[in-house]
Amino acid sequence: IKIHFVDHGGTERSVEVEDGISLMEAATQNLIPGIDGDCGGSCACATCHMHIDPEWLDRLPPIEDQENQMLDIVDLRDADSRLGCQVKVSPELDGIVVRTPIGQH
Ligand code: FES
Repeated sequence: IKIHFVDHGGTERSVEVEDGISLMEAATQNLIPGIDGDCGGSCACATCHMHIDPEWLDRLPPIEDQENQMLDIVDLRDADSRLGCQVKVSPELDGIVVRTPIGQH
């Protein structure tokens, strides 16, 4: 499954990952700058904050309460913000475009 990570400078990194991992794991496994995943995916650190391309946003599962609370501590929360650890990669998301936030390096 292909994922396109675009940083805030516009540099695109495309990675190929297996079905069922999270967008955070897809980023950290491929050393995408800006995505740390400090808490290991337990929705407790918000260092996996990402912006989802509008074309793909509606295809994701809705934001759960805990994710919503963690997103509230993110500086640059936007309507397209998600925590990468809470979004699982699936074949329906093949080709998804994700932007890594400015300020996360
Ligand atoms: Fe910590 Fe997602 S990895 S909140």
